[in-house]
Amino acid sequence: MHISLTNPDHHPQAPIQLPRRILHGGDYSPEQWNPDVWRRDMELLREAGCNTLTVGIFAWAALEPEEGRYDFSVLDSILDLLHGNGFHAILATPTAAPPLWMGKAYPEIRMVDVDSIRFSPGDRVHTCPTSPVYREKTAAIDRELARRYARHPAVVMWHIGNEFCFHCYCDLCRAAFRTWLRNRYGSLDNLNRAWWTAFWGQTFSSWDQVEPPGHKRMISMEGLFTDWHRFMTDQTADFIRMEIATVKAFNPDLPATTNLMSFHRQFDYRVFARELDVVSYDAYPAYHDRPNNVETAVEQAFVYDMMRSLKHRPWILMETSPSSANWMQIMKLKRPGVHRLTGLQAVAHGSDAVLYFQWRASRGGREKLHGAVVNHDSDPNSRVFREVAELGADLDALREVAGALQHAEVGLIYEWDSRWMMEETCGPRRDGLLSYNNTLIAHYRPFWERGMPVDIIGVDDDVSAYKVVVAPLLHLLREGVAEKLAAFVESGGVLVTTYWSGRVDASGLCFDTGYPGPLRALLGIRSEELDVLYKDEQRSVVCTAGSRFGDGTQFTARLFCDLIHAEGANVEAEYGDDFYAGRPALTRHCYGEGEAWYIGFDGGSDFLDRFYGDLADACGLRRVLEASLPVGVTACERKAPGRDIIFLMNTTREPASVTISEAGLVDLQTGEAVSGTVALSPYDVKILARPAGT
Ligand code: GAL
Repeated sequence: MHISLTNPDHHPQAPIQLPRRILHGGDYSPEQWNPDVWRRDMELLREAGCNTLTVGIFAWAALEPEEGRYDFSVLDSILDLLHGNGFHAILATPTAAPPLWMGKAYPEIRMVDVDSIRFSPGDRVHTCPTSPVYREKTAAIDRELARRYARHPAVVMWHIGNEFCFHCYCDLCRAAFRTWLRNRYGSLDNLNRAWWTAFWGQTFSSWDQVEPPGHKRMISMEGLFTDWHRFMTDQTADFIRMEIATVKAFNPDLPATTNLMSFHRQFDYRVFARELDVVSYDAYPAYHDRPNNVETAVEQAFVYDMMRSLKHRPWILMETSPSSANWMQIMKLKRPGVHRLTGLQAVAHGSDAVLYFQWRASRGGREKLHGAVVNHDSDPNSRVFREVAELGADLDALREVAGALQHAEVGLIYEWDSRWMMEETCGPRRDGLLSYNNTLIAHYRPFWERGMPVDIIGVDDDVSAYKVVVAPLLHLLREGVAEKLAAFVESGGVLVTTYWSGRVDASGLCFDTGYPGPLRALLGIRSEELDVLYKDEQRSVVCTAGSRFGDGTQFTARLFCDLIHAEGANVEAEYGDDFYAGRPALTRHCYGEGEAWYIGFDGGSDFLDRFYGDLADACGLRRVLEASLPVGVTACERKAPGRDIIFLMNTTREPASVTISEAGLVDLQTGEAVSGTVALSPYDVKILARPAGT
């Protein structure tokens, strides 16, 4: 049975068809094994409560052993075997690892790195996204695969390539970059102005002088750096588009994905997401209790919410390790119970799958020591196998959740543009403490702690349905963004932004109309200077009479103190010391029907918790569960047909108890009513159901 995934919310999209169940299984390389092993794996899959294998990822050498000679015998057999056993297949195009013969015969398909060294044949994820030869070879194998399998009953999805993660600096990519720049800027004069090349006399007098950013060249232009990342994103997205169009020509209804990687710096995933039907993601969190799991759990939750929000629909956890990952410095095992917690956490945040790298451990090669569901001895009586099977039972009971959405009242803006620009800019601090990711996670955490759903959105998303939009470090402002946020606030929304926002335009030029640039009128402030503190320094921040937080309430500022002037905004708190004592530190501007907050200082978690707790009350933000949650315990909700499914998760290694103050909940597994105090063992997850609309 299949479900159709659509988003009835404020992000309409074409429906896609996926099986009505949570996919559970993993990457499998049948070309490494013989038919006896395949058949044994079918039994083991059933025993592990699994239903899906992802096949073909690095199989090109087996599929096309010589140029133009194809051999599909292994794939034919394994897909039929999977189907015969009632299992699904996610079919990968093998293009992340071209065969050695191809790399040798066509050097141009191999990437060139930032130091102008071409990769040797014999690696993976090292191909050029521009090379016409590589595109031709890719389209040819993809066509063969799609002709044969696009309507195979086992195949539920295409998996395009694998983890696109590098930039290529070859001559073909350089030439394509120049073309991209011509299209963007129209003339060299415009380019020179946008990148402010007169600084250090770097003016371009012809297009062929433009080179990508590198370790030793063109370091004076962060506009170049950001544009190069935009270009490489577009170029790689174009490659993905080409692959998807090729396979979809044979069955337009078979959805396609490619697996993304966390806060990947190289590409803007929102651009990739436009090409995909489903977002999928590879997660290798270190849930190792160091110092505890809460930080890891919050970071993971943030990324999961980002994956869900990229298309505002359920996503696929394409890879995770069932135990350890051999590329980590220390191959620490997941403690008993952590596997269930982390698998269910992904589902709680919108994943319709828990898939592993890898199903069966390879006997040789770079990843022979990597965690796998089935280890070298094929013994299902292992702790890892049993924990996978336990999760499999949970996932089976959660079929109704497949396709179910979440509803968030808060949108938190994460922009690759701002991140690239900030990270490349020299200043305001170079000791690593201006971290875009960590700052955004810190602003997300108070909502996570209260069990309040958050969408992680981009400035191009529709924000009109949110009650609150949080945009920390919105450093770079593209044209129209300030106007869009102003319209949101004007019609009753609440906007929160911070120091270092509204500093530069899309190519990195500082606004010359006073900071925070086009946000100045909306925020009702002007920022004059930014004081940056040493790590061991702090300043006091004192709430004013009439402040939301109570007259005289004190907070502590660290790292950044923005020296602002109120221009219509209400001053909620002022600095208590240094030469800027008495100057505004926190402001609230009533604008139209809504309000716009500016947080001028880094107040750390104490301040953020208080600030967002207060804001949540003022805005009437909904918690998914009526309960007060102890540290490290959170709740998530998915809206299944007819009932809400709530995941109550203890991410700590200590027992916890939660007092629930709402009635009508039942435990999904036991069917028993749940109310009052609920005990959670370490890493425990309780799955609760509530009739929809109550
Ligand atoms: C992923 C990759 C997999 C495997 C895994 C190991 O990044 O896609 O093929 O290498 O890491 O953790």
